[in-house]
Amino acid sequence: MKFFVDTADVEEIRKLNDLGLVDGVTTNPSLVAKSGRDFAEVVKEICSFIDGPVSAEVTAIDFDGMMAEARELVKIAENVAIKVPLTEAGIKTCKALSDDGIKVNVTLCFSAAQAILAAKAGAAYISPFVGRLDDIGQDGLALIEEIVTIYGAYDFDTEVLVASVRHPIHVVDSAKMGADVATVPPKVLWQMFKHPLTDKGLEAFLEDWQKTGQSIL
Ligand code: E4P
Repeated sequence: MKFFVDTADVEEIRKLNDLGLVDGVTTNPSLVAKSGRDFAEVVKEICSFIDGPVSAEVTAIDFDGMMAEARELVKIAENVAIKVPLTEAGIKTCKALSDDGIKVNVTLCFSAAQAILAAKAGAAYISPFVGRLDDIGQDGLALIEEIVTIYGAYDFDTEVLVASVRHPIHVVDSAKMGADVATVPPKVLWQMFKHPLTDKGLEAFLEDWQKTGQSIL
């Protein structure tokens, strides 16, 4: 499973990237607003040290506007992937950009029917939002299972990019289902390291090692 980091916070991305854990980055207008930075500048900076795709989202809602914005955004760096919403205009834009060899991430997906449309339009990624479905009392992970099954049955090239991840269980269960990518907020990625028995075990090993009076170096 690939890990994308779901943030526009460059320092957080750098820290995780230094661990060798980052395969790409996703941003959205809310995350850019949270960063307080200029959109093009922040995307350019992220692209300068991330090898994988960096999703930058269009904000126009019509086809011509989305195409114009996408053409501008792809100039920022070679690894920019264009994020479009799952609307009629978004799907049309996805098809046009994908036909031109541009990677498109179709976002705001909340149903398997929508995911089929994105795959038919040649999307590189479909982003089903698990957390937001859970928030309204639906089963976000069930949607991941449905999409993985459907895409597998037809050998679609579109990768399932699990979005709106709220906790490590979203990541683990999506991995069990065979989702291709999880875009994970930094906080959740750090949580994935944690287990009290790891801390306790390490403490005991270090204490016992001290007693031996030895040192490796
Ligand atoms: C990423 O591509 C999505 O925009 C993001 O995961 C949405 O997460 P949220 O539901 O926590 O805002």
